[in-house]
Amino acid sequence: MGDITRVGVIGAGLMGSGIAEVTARAGLDVVVVEADTAAAEAGRARIEKSLGRGVDKGKLSAEERDAALARLTFSTDLDACADRQLVIEAVAENEAVKLDVFGRLDKIVEPATVLASNTSSLPITRLAMATERPERVVGLHFFNPVPVQKLVELIPSLLTSDDTAANAAAFASDVLGKTVVRAPDRAGFVVNALLIPYLLSAIRMVEAGHATPEDIDNGMVLGCAHPMGPLRLADLVGLDTTKAVAESMYEEYKEPLYAPPPLLQRMVEAGLYGRKSGRGFYDYT
Ligand code: CAA
Ligand code: NAD
Repeated sequence: MGDITRVGVIGAGLMGSGIAEVTARAGLDVVVVEADTAAAEAGRARIEKSLGRGVDKGKLSAEERDAALARLTFSTDLDACADRQLVIEAVAENEAVKLDVFGRLDKIVEPATVLASNTSSLPITRLAMATERPERVVGLHFFNPVPVQKLVELIPSLLTSDDTAANAAAFASDVLGKTVVRAPDRAGFVVNALLIPYLLSAIRMVEAGHATPEDIDNGMVLGCAHPMGPLRLADLVGLDTTKAVAESMYEEYKEPLYAPPPLLQRMVEAGLYGRKSGRGFYDYT
């Protein structure tokens, strides 16, 4: 693949905006593609806010912030990725939407371009089969918030070439400075296979009246030194995303511990997605 200098990011929600931000901060040229102009503007605003926070926290200078912003271009047209060497898909956790994006990207980008997915749980093999380049499709799973969390899971599918996996791992570690762990192409990979049952257990405790969200979260923060408790974390991840991830893990393993509890289903149906919608287990308005 050679040295990567031109990257595409599809989707500029919580994760795509973070991935675009760290890639631009690493000095690369980034094209961000969103579904429509309003979503692209929201993505740009999210990146500007996070870069501003980075400056306030002393993580980068005002000049570095401006240089990173200048490396970002926003579009609503996948064709804007035609000259990209690596494209990272970060659209919502919906298999049909992701398959459509992979199928269309495959026809737009050069044959040597690597297509990566930030999916939390969907099999990379399935996404690869929507393309005619399955050897150049790989999972690169970032963690939220991307500028802060140091991990990236690398998920080669059964068909990913060794070169593609090595280049994707080098991008995450050498260019972005993340620590890479290799994960199997099984729903939930490594981290979510442990994290999602924990979040679902906390939701079941609330549902059963076992304890309040505040008491559960305080318990895990003050008793176990977690940076945030499971209900606040589910709100941060997004309850829609938490539910979608749980559903694909349940579909894969058919084990009750992955089944989304009714309370989670109802909250998503009610539009209570957590921090991003203003209300979940907590109120953010
Ligand atoms: N750019 C750069 N650095 C930033 C930043 C930004 N935009 N925002 C914050 N930081 C830095 C801060 O400077 C600080 O660094 P130092 O420790 O060196 O001072 C650090 O990040 C923590 O920031 P804050 O002090 O502002 O925030 P906090 O202490 O309240 O922590 C949090 C906030 C990082 C979200 C923390 O609560 C946390 O890590 N929570 C757990 C998050 C988690 O578990 N994420 C994984 C979710 S699961 C997932 O992602 C996978 C999936 O598929 C669903
Ligand atoms: P999000 O809902 O914040 O953002 C998704 C974005 O995708 C939206 O802005 C939407 O407009 C955009 N989108 C939808 N269809 C599109 C299309 N066809 N073309 C371009 N953009 C499109 O979701 P998110 O939390 O950023 O999650 C994105 C992906 O990252 C999911 O696969 C999710 O599982 C994964 N992920 C999420 C987290 C997390 O903590 N939220 C962590 C790691 C991985």
